[in-house]
Amino acid sequence: MSDTRAHKRFRSQEWFDNPNNPGMTALYLERYQNATFTREELQSERPIIGIAQTGSDLAPCNKIHVFLMDRIKAGIREAGGIPMEFPVHPIQETGKRPTAALDRNLSYLTLVEVLHGYPIDGVVLTTGCDKTTPAMLMGAATVDLPAIALNGGPMLDGWFKGKRAGSGMVIWEGRRLLAEGKIDYEEFMERACASAPSMGHCNTMGTASTMNAMAEALGMTLTGSSAIPAPFRERMEMAYLTGKRIVQMVLDDLKPSDIMTREAFENAIVTNAAIGGSTNAPPHLQAVARHVGVELNVKDWETVGFDVPLLANVQPAGEYLGEGFYRAGGVPAIMGELKKAGRLHEGVMTASGRTLGEELEGIESVDIDVIKTYDAPMRQNAGFKVLSGNLFDSALMKTSVISPDFQQRFLSHPGKEGVHEARAIVFEGPEDYHDRLNDPALEIDENCILFIRNVGCVGYPGSAEVVNMQPPDELIKAGIHHLPTVGDGRQSGTSESPSILNATPESVVGGGLAYLKTGDMVRLDLNSSTLNALVEDAEWQARMDAWDAPELEHQTPWQEIYRKHVGQLADGGCLELATAYQKIGRTLARDNH
Ligand code: FES
Ligand code: MG
Repeated sequence: MSDTRAHKRFRSQEWFDNPNNPGMTALYLERYQNATFTREELQSERPIIGIAQTGSDLAPCNKIHVFLMDRIKAGIREAGGIPMEFPVHPIQETGKRPTAALDRNLSYLTLVEVLHGYPIDGVVLTTGCDKTTPAMLMGAATVDLPAIALNGGPMLDGWFKGKRAGSGMVIWEGRRLLAEGKIDYEEFMERACASAPSMGHCNTMGTASTMNAMAEALGMTLTGSSAIPAPFRERMEMAYLTGKRIVQMVLDDLKPSDIMTREAFENAIVTNAAIGGSTNAPPHLQAVARHVGVELNVKDWETVGFDVPLLANVQPAGEYLGEGFYRAGGVPAIMGELKKAGRLHEGVMTASGRTLGEELEGIESVDIDVIKTYDAPMRQNAGFKVLSGNLFDSALMKTSVISPDFQQRFLSHPGKEGVHEARAIVFEGPEDYHDRLNDPALEIDENCILFIRNVGCVGYPGSAEVVNMQPPDELIKAGIHHLPTVGDGRQSGTSESPSILNATPESVVGGGLAYLKTGDMVRLDLNSSTLNALVEDAEWQARMDAWDAPELEHQTPWQEIYRKHVGQLADGGCLELATAYQKIGRTLARDNH
């Protein structure tokens, strides 16, 4: 055990060890003896390390953390700290209705309140399922006490009938096969269950693996942490090492604001393109950046990241799943290849206490079938396009999942490469889409683009993953598995569809999508990164003048509070008022008695 005493006076001593305020010190200390701790250790001048527990029966993607907790605590004790585990509000991507995205900001708020109001000197952030990672990083950013992230790791690879069955993708594919009549309900369920063979989060490069890769790329984890599959012994070792490391971070006062700089966010954007990462990363990283006080703009995703090649041959953009990605070297191998190509800011500080460049020294892909080299990638220009036009100020398109078939059908018109003019079919939300998709009156054919609105942060509320709509059954049977889709909501990070997402501003606050009608012609132009409704200005203006904001029905008090304060996806979908609170761990709350 290292000696942490005499280094500095810790924040937690204001609670437990303050002879100048004996009345309050006695009150703060006595009850904590009641549950595990002794007076001797609480007054031993050791830092108290919070462990934000995101796993529970309701949050199965993160439940591995319940079992990793012993190892995290052992590491903290080994290094001379005192661990205190506490629960955070669960965010389960597949369990929470209307969407886990509604709860990211609630989980963030609860973490901020705990870190600010309790005797905590530093924190281990347990992460995993999609929104848990940004929620934890956002909270750590606002408070700015020393913090380190540890994810639970992806599940083992799923297999069905000799083929890899990737999280999420198995569902989207199963829905299509069901629509085609190729499988029945029983086989659909079997396929789905086969894709989840062990504890852990999604094993595809969906939002969970992406956001944990982002935490590592930002420097907020130990190097090599994010890709270790949940059941591997290396995961337990990483839990122990992470616990050990946070104590030294507290002693050195190494804070999120020292690590998550503008350069670190640019590294994350570049890494996201190279892994074929999720379209949910931009709003989440935007939120983290705003809470830590870094200038970032949605357009940065195209200017900094578009020309980065795809290196990870991992579903949905490639072939492999989490196990293969880890064995090929995981995120350090990706970043090692990017470093060799001069694409990273190497001088940034990481949670390890060393610079990124030092951490990546000599690291490269160990299996070029799974992690390609920069010079021989899966494809070039794998970053996001950030579109604009009269339908929105910004929307994202993930180019790494544009298939040859999609390219051929929609983007390869002779003389008009990258341009697609089509008839708009507009749905008012997922219920309307499911009700009317197969309605022959809509006459949906190959020359249509599907739109969905009212599904953004304010509209849904929370912004739902419903933009990746599938074509009508008849088109699927005819071999057309994808149509271009557009919406003011998001899509699953596991989707292999190059949808146009996160349209900002959303329709219910008066964004351009609100004025579109079924039958309007629209033009997508990837050369100029634009999407426009081809409607006369006077007609468009008349529609705007005639528009009334829809009446929104709140089902819970939080939905009403959220809607009142949430911003748009391009701005991170933050509680806008919360972004004014910065580095609040430097201040102490008032005494409670
Ligand atoms: Fe939780 Fe994918 S649903 S990680
Ligand atoms: Mg999702």
